[in-house]
Amino acid sequence: MKKWYAVIGEPIAHSLSPYMHETWFKEHGIDAAYIPVQVKPADLEKAFFALKTLGVSGFNITLPHKESILPLLDHIDETASAMNAVNTVVFDGENYVGFNTDGDGFVQSLFAAPVKLSARVLVIGAGGAARGISYALKRSGFSDIVIANRTIARAEELARDIGGSAMTLADAEKSLGDFGIIIQTTSVGLSTDQALPISLENVKSGTIAADIIYNPLETPFLIKAKEQGCHTVNGVGMFVGQGAIAFEKWTGIKPDMEKMKELITNKLG
Ligand code: ATR
Repeated sequence: MKKWYAVIGEPIAHSLSPYMHETWFKEHGIDAAYIPVQVKPADLEKAFFALKTLGVSGFNITLPHKESILPLLDHIDETASAMNAVNTVVFDGENYVGFNTDGDGFVQSLFAAPVKLSARVLVIGAGGAARGISYALKRSGFSDIVIANRTIARAEELARDIGGSAMTLADAEKSLGDFGIIIQTTSVGLSTDQALPISLENVKSGTIAADIIYNPLETPFLIKAKEQGCHTVNGVGMFVGQGAIAFEKWTGIKPDMEKMKELITNKLG
């Protein structure tokens, strides 16, 4: 029987996941489909039951279901459990197992830039995305991680969980020159009004500045960072990275990320 996969979320119409996975399936001669499914929060349980009944082999989960899917699954892997968020589900023939590939996808994409593990890393934001990324940074061997957030208590909690330190946004702004890598994870970057979560006046030229948002490709944060002489990393790599790890979990095949980054960039550009 033809295998099929899905991504569930709301909204879902503009997701590039179906394009990405179907391209990889084709490239590797796998006869499988990948379908976007719009699901309202109140319908998640029914939708999951329907996917199971119809024999889904695996699926991705995006906003707003990344947390609410957890109690419905048979097993949650350690990373997803620490994150309290799942973005990938694998059906192993018996159980539906939840993973979170967002953080590792981001860190993989960061290694496309000339990063050093000894660099002092600033993570701006302390929400779900920051949590996934901070854990993945720690696992990948970065040892000096600072979390800065508008609500300092959330920064302190995340810093405690990963063994890093916390700062106010104002203090981070003043000491930007101490950081080799700056990662913007807040939702501020989504706005088109040039708003920034912090001012980048004190950033050193050559610093690596990364944003997790991929649409727009050039966020206000990345535009300003580039002006300041930073090496910028946009969110396309994270999007492709999380998808590549999910694809590998489903098929055992590592897909070509670089080629996909180009295809997605062209689609968005
Ligand atoms: P996600 O799961 O996408 O990370 P989230 O958990 O809602 O979403 O977190 C959003 C992040 O953006 C938080 O760090 C939030 O800061 P607070 O913890 O203080 O709410 C940050 N954020 C949102 N709007 C912001 C703004 N206008 N200025 C600074 N930070 C902002």
